[in-house]
Amino acid sequence: MDKRLLNTKTVVTGGSRGIGAGIVKRLFDEGSDIIIADILEDEANDLINSLKAKDRIFFHRTNLSEENQILDLFKFVKNKWGTLNFLINNAGIEDGFLVKDQSYEDYKKTIRINMDAPFLCSKYALPLFKINKGGRIIMISSIQGIRGYKGNISYNTAKGGMINMTRVLSTELANENILVNSVAPGFINTDMSVMKDGTLEWDSDWFKDVYLKYEKLPMGRYGNPDDIAGAVYFFCSEDSKYVTGQTLLVDGGVSSTF
Ligand SMILES: NC(=O)c1ccc[n+]([C@@H]2O[C@H](COP(=O)([O-])OP(=O)(O)OC[C@H]3O[C@@H](n4cnc5c(N)ncnc54)[C@H](O)[C@@H]3O)[C@@H](O)[C@H]2O)c1
Repeated sequence: MDKRLLNTKTVVTGGSRGIGAGIVKRLFDEGSDIIIADILEDEANDLINSLKAKDRIFFHRTNLSEENQILDLFKFVKNKWGTLNFLINNAGIEDGFLVKDQSYEDYKKTIRINMDAPFLCSKYALPLFKINKGGRIIMISSIQGIRGYKGNISYNTAKGGMINMTRVLSTELANENILVNSVAPGFINTDMSVMKDGTLEWDSDWFKDVYLKYEKLPMGRYGNPDDIAGAVYFFCSEDSKYVTGQTLLVDGGVSSTF
């Protein structure tokens, strides 16, 4: 396979597992060197070992709810590489409350990780993109950022904000040759798909009813991290060199039904 991202440098937030790990694998396979910014060190090391990639993939412990840790991350990137091509704002958490049950503390925590961290990472990556004379920012948002989904107010709000942040950044950064796009996953098979009672969304009666029996999920299957990684690769590649400010829904068609 042609490695189309050789000699590039990438930061993937939340790259230790799930969708982030899928993105790390794909971009690594395409030739990019990667820094994983996450709080899960063992999972990141397992991934790095499984790819035999100790000299090309590095872990930097970063709690993305803390601005000083994000600053520290980009100092680490500067010392290691001195430049950056791709920033993948992927890390996220979901809390799943109705507004009446949502505490302000939990609300703020979800907004901080899902929306404020992408803002801060994008801001502190700019000097490195300048050295590179351009770059790409890719936000992993959600179809819940374009529709209202009952019982997930903080997450839906944050992901909606992330999608509009994508548009705003695209207008501000195009003249610096920085393209900003978003990938909005639908139902993807990761730890995030485990419900509060421990069962997989996929195995629940409501999911089988609404999405399979009544065909609201046209492709009839859960997505996998590599389905998202393919779209991220597109936004890193030369094939998307005239695309900015966009959100690509990668959801098996679920957002096309009503
Ligand atoms: N799984 C889905 O169905 C789905 C659907 C739509 C969008 N998404 C989005 O995709 C992204 C990845 O989700 P996933 O499904 O892989 O979930 P996941 O829980 O498997 O992975 C999330 C990663 O983010 C990291 N993370 C969380 N809080 C952090 C913090 N404070 N600092 C640093 N790292 C932190 C976790 O340690 C983990 O490695 C998220 O932004 C999520 O909202 C997922």
